[in-house]
Amino acid sequence: MMRKIAIFASGTGTNFVALVQAIKARQLPAQVVLLVCDHQDAPVLQRAQAFNIPSFVINFKDYANKAAAETAILAALQARDVQAILLAGYMRIIGPTLLAAYPNKIINIHPALLPKFPGAHGIEDAFQAGVKETGVTIHFIDAGVDSGPIIAQKAVPVLPTDDLDSLETRIHATEHVLYPDVLADLLKKGAL
Ligand code: GRF
Repeated sequence: MMRKIAIFASGTGTNFVALVQAIKARQLPAQVVLLVCDHQDAPVLQRAQAFNIPSFVINFKDYANKAAAETAILAALQARDVQAILLAGYMRIIGPTLLAAYPNKIINIHPALLPKFPGAHGIEDAFQAGVKETGVTIHFIDAGVDSGPIIAQKAVPVLPTDDLDSLETRIHATEHVLYPDVLADLLKKGAL
């Protein structure tokens, strides 16, 4: 069954592109029907436009609180019959309004091996800590920060020759393979 998906992103959008391209190339039974973006200048908006995917830009400052903003997002999702949400560099915590509307249907990618190095700087924090291995985690969203049930993880070695840039490049390359793989798997299992 064709699933209608929204991707939430705040920034560059390389994972957005990887997901959209994989859906097309692998003929996955899913369609990205909406990009939700909380920054009007984010490069991901141009990427969506290039794929003819509509965007919903939300400025949280226009709303009294998170619940009001998420109610507006929810209306945009429901108008397009969205059934699942993939977070791809969305730099906000999902609140109770969206969690209640999409129980077990919101997935996030995090650039570290959770529960290690949660938060906004997973790659840098792992690098500074001097670990020999870090990686990528895909997990369901719950009310905490990077704390929901883990779906899949892939380790990425930290090489003695790495600087932060080279490690970041390797992590991102891993993300761009793992996220589409997990999406394909969840669709196959009917879990989305
Ligand atoms: C990725 O590293 C993702 O794991 C993290 O934010 C970054 C988004 O990168 N949550 P991009 O916008 O997909 O290029």
